[in-house]
Amino acid sequence: GIVVSSLLKSTGLVTVDPGFMNTASCESEITYIDGDAGILRYRGYPIDQLAEKSTFLEVAYLLIHGELPDGPTLDAFVERVNRHTLVHEDFRTFMGTFPRNAHPMAVLSSAINALSTFYPESLDPFDDETVELATVLLLAKTRTITSYLHRRAVGEPLLYPDYSRGYVDDFLRMTFATPYEKYESDPTVVDALDKLLILHADHEQNCSTSTVRVVGSSHANLYASVAAGVNALSGPLHGGANEAVLSMLDKIQNSDFDVDTFMKKVKNKEDGVRLMGFGHRVYKNYDPRAAIVKAKADAVLSTLGKKDELLDIALRLEEIALNDDYFIERKLYPNVDFYTGLIYKAMGFSPAMFTPLFALGRMPGWIAQWREMMKDPQTKIGRPRQVYTGATERPYLPVDGR
Ligand code: ACO
Repeated sequence: GIVVSSLLKSTGLVTVDPGFMNTASCESEITYIDGDAGILRYRGYPIDQLAEKSTFLEVAYLLIHGELPDGPTLDAFVERVNRHTLVHEDFRTFMGTFPRNAHPMAVLSSAINALSTFYPESLDPFDDETVELATVLLLAKTRTITSYLHRRAVGEPLLYPDYSRGYVDDFLRMTFATPYEKYESDPTVVDALDKLLILHADHEQNCSTSTVRVVGSSHANLYASVAAGVNALSGPLHGGANEAVLSMLDKIQNSDFDVDTFMKKVKNKEDGVRLMGFGHRVYKNYDPRAAIVKAKADAVLSTLGKKDELLDIALRLEEIALNDDYFIERKLYPNVDFYTGLIYKAMGFSPAMFTPLFALGRMPGWIAQWREMMKDPQTKIGRPRQVYTGATERPYLPVDGR
């Protein structure tokens, strides 16, 4: 819990800290987490207040610009993002070239990286207006790309955006509407997805955000940095956990062992099996985001009339874990991913789409952290040291002498 700030030039002293358990990579004003108390704030505002009262694009503005916008500023920002949601026809063709069964996270990172080739005027990382343009383009195009990931998988054409609708409302229309039919999205679904995006919008120096910062520290452009973040997010120990949770719940439902037998496997670390959606590097208490999602899950499922037995299994797993010494001693609680998949599934998304939805939500955080880093005079290229443990010097032997 002690913070030591070091601005020293290299002294020859090297610390080994696998997983950066005790190493801060930067100072940041964006997100505050108290993992022991289960507190999360964006720019000082408690996450529960933002989730209840704000909207995703307002939170994006807050994270990126540091303050809540006044009415006209917010309207102008929302309007600007909406107006950029259309993608170039060639970009659509490009996205159509991936195999239909490709994992959407691989397509998403490739597509985000490719944006830099379509918008070369938005690449200068040191020009404020250019960075703002890249910011707006990323928030807008990622939404369109994400809806297309779903439509490609189900073999339906990409729909054009409708600028008159809200960010989340039109995302749902572009994802689920059938062409030539008027689509009305369910207000409960719009509200729930908006909240889920807010809950995912930033989480300080997690694996994907650290990746974005390290890549950006070489002065790589915003698209290249964020595309790297998408790849980091795809792993099952990070954003990929939401998909992994659903497949775990499915497996339990369709297997001949019950919840208690599964938990025994977890505790005995059989085949490295973990209770996915549990545990967190920073939270040693209930993840405040998970508490909000859990409350929403039941409400959304019942409003949509999609009662899911998997929710009962998840609730039972949590109940066992919260009363079991293995989980208590290690301070393992549900994280944000434990219940999100059940809500996404009820909304009509396939499991492969869960992590892209996380990426859509995390976009403002990646952008805000990249922008903060580029402006920070303390920033240096990310270049960790190592402790070498390989062979000492030895002479090269030609192949016939080995
Ligand atoms: N199920 C069972 N045991 C667990 C779990 C779990 N989900 N998570 C941690 N443990 C155990 C470990 O086996 C270890 O036990 P040990 O002390 O006997 O060796 C101990 O708890 C500490 O675990 P570490 O892996 O050292 O903790 P770390 O901080 O490195 O990992 C992580 C955090 C990756 C999130 C881990 O808890 C995990 O794998 N969880 C499951 C995947 C998951 O839900 N990821 C999403 C994270 S949140 C997010 O990205 C949005």
